[in-house]
Amino acid sequence: MFQALHETVEYIKRKTNNFQPEIGIVLGTGLGALVTEIEVEYNLMYSNIPNFPISTLEFHSGKLIFGTLKGKKVIAMQGRLHYYEGYSMQQITFPIRAMKALGIHCLFVSNAAGSLNPNFKKGDLMIINDHINLQPESPLRGHNDADMGPRFPDMSQPYSRELIDSAMAIAEKEGINCHQGVYVSVTGPNLETKAEYKYLRIIGGDAVGMSTVPEVIVAKHSGIPVFAISVLTDEGFTEVLVPVSLEEILETAREAEPKMTKILSQLISTL
Ligand code: HPA
Repeated sequence: MFQALHETVEYIKRKTNNFQPEIGIVLGTGLGALVTEIEVEYNLMYSNIPNFPISTLEFHSGKLIFGTLKGKKVIAMQGRLHYYEGYSMQQITFPIRAMKALGIHCLFVSNAAGSLNPNFKKGDLMIINDHINLQPESPLRGHNDADMGPRFPDMSQPYSRELIDSAMAIAEKEGINCHQGVYVSVTGPNLETKAEYKYLRIIGGDAVGMSTVPEVIVAKHSGIPVFAISVLTDEGFTEVLVPVSLEEILETAREAEPKMTKILSQLISTL
């Protein structure tokens, strides 16, 4: 992996005139609009970057964006990669390794998730303060390169307490209703059955989704503080489970986008 990473990073540096990002952002569902606030200097298609996986989803365009947001140099992934697309965990998290090698010292992630907590309604935001990994493997499985991180990384606080507190303060100031909770990651791409939603709630989940945890594990392995936030796009706790479509999930995420963008951009400005 070291060789591949070297090749990727050299390519990116060459194409971006040695741009040195401070902050990495994974623009998952709900954060697409943040791009409009970035003063973009460069962008690179994933398909042109050596060793980069290519996002197969139509609604996730695959581009790496370099620019300035609230005076901070950022690198943003427009188009995230999911395990259900068929990639290995190492492929999904390769861009996080590349961002680390380019110099980021903080990672922001967003996603869409189903609510498991009866107090967290469709359209609400939830800052992730812990997770349960139900995906079938860890991106750290296999040989560990000690230069990249420890064999057995600590997971007592994967999400930066400081960033959570700052974000909660911003949400309060802005009058945005924002919860905190536990995100459970599953493989997907199918949504959950009624019994599965119930089970995920019983084991301690507040929200369920198909992404984020692999990136967070690799960021933690690399020593990068993480902030992650979910937009809750459907409710898995109802007496009668309402069928959800991708269109509805995206529509709810779009509606919540301004709240999410406000919190993230203000949070970045405080760094
Ligand atoms: N389950 C899993 N992933 C999701 C959901 C859900 O209900 N909603 C959005 N992503």
